[in-house]
Amino acid sequence: MSKTVLFVLGILVPVTAFLDLSTIIEKLWPQESDGVFGPVARIPYHDLLNDNLYIDPFVLRSMQEYGFFYVVDIPGYNASIELDYMKEFFSLDEKVKDKLAIKRHNPDNINAYRGYCPGLNDVESTLQFKNVFNIGPHETRAPFYDETEDSALEKLRYDCQEANVWPDTDDCVFDKGFKEVFQGGFELRRGIARAFVRSISRALKYPDLPSLFTEDEFSAMGLRKYPARQMKNTNMYSDFDGELLRELEHIDSTVTVLSTFHNEGLQMLYKNEYWDAPVSGDNAFIVNIGKLVDDIIDNKMLSVRHRVLEVDFTRYSITYFLGPSFDADISKSMTGWITEAGHKYQVFGEWIKDYLGAIELFYY
Ligand SMILES: *[C@@H]1O[C@H](CO)[C@@H](O)[C@H](O)[C@H]1NC(C)=O
Repeated sequence: MSKTVLFVLGILVPVTAFLDLSTIIEKLWPQESDGVFGPVARIPYHDLLNDNLYIDPFVLRSMQEYGFFYVVDIPGYNASIELDYMKEFFSLDEKVKDKLAIKRHNPDNINAYRGYCPGLNDVESTLQFKNVFNIGPHETRAPFYDETEDSALEKLRYDCQEANVWPDTDDCVFDKGFKEVFQGGFELRRGIARAFVRSISRALKYPDLPSLFTEDEFSAMGLRKYPARQMKNTNMYSDFDGELLRELEHIDSTVTVLSTFHNEGLQMLYKNEYWDAPVSGDNAFIVNIGKLVDDIIDNKMLSVRHRVLEVDFTRYSITYFLGPSFDADISKSMTGWITEAGHKYQVFGEWIKDYLGAIELFYY
């Protein structure tokens, strides 16, 4: 869609909202001939971020029918720049990356969650065969946690506010560029995820939903590299249909904003079959929700099950997850039903604790 069309859409929609929308609908709701996911919504960034109301039914329908949609036409953004920085980062000397490694990998470091999580090279047949660099919302540590005064929950809150670590190489142009690009990329994705939450809160008439997402203590962006494998193993085959997989079938937990660049391999379940999801390319993101959030909105949308096929090249992707605020009550849905998480947890911070435990054991 050209910039002019976008501009016109943005300005005219309030006026045309009660008129004939067929031209807009045609643009946003492409033809079925584009494959099974042809009708998945492609929402212009500008209209999502500006709460232009016409987008709500498109987001809603896409989320109910397919469980995902695309955000497109992001001004001044080109994912290939992020991809180039990722490749350069992962090709740095292991000694340099070790300085950024989580403490489970390098006991000299203090960072437990943010930073570099090396792949498990000795067991490349497992499904954990990937390298990740994790980025969060904090650049500085919260005030020091005093064990004598604070509860376990406060300790957890402190842990969640771990500061980012950034590359410190001999190449300060790279260091500066990497940090700027990914701090910007983090903000961009957080803005998209929050605008999406506002859209579904309007569409479902759940005005209280955005208030669960006002803080983002544990939102996380993961730069992921899945190296091409040298060997196959029986546990890499799908139980569902026998396909060879690089990432097992799963449903996410929170709100996901995903970049696949031009890498094929991602498949989404639709009507009990896996289909290739179009790549996000240079100027788009894929948005979906996970089970925790779906439960909170009374399962009024689809938390799509997805997987990544084994491909014969090293595959890069970026995930961004926006969870509820640390103190958000996740035990009840918007209409007061007890959520699945609610049988075990009251606030999101407690949920995070078990999730972090899993990271410490398996990375993620
Ligand atoms: C993004 O950048 C790449 C490489 O610099 C270029 O080939 C591509 O055309 C750009 N894409 C867009 C949408 O600007």
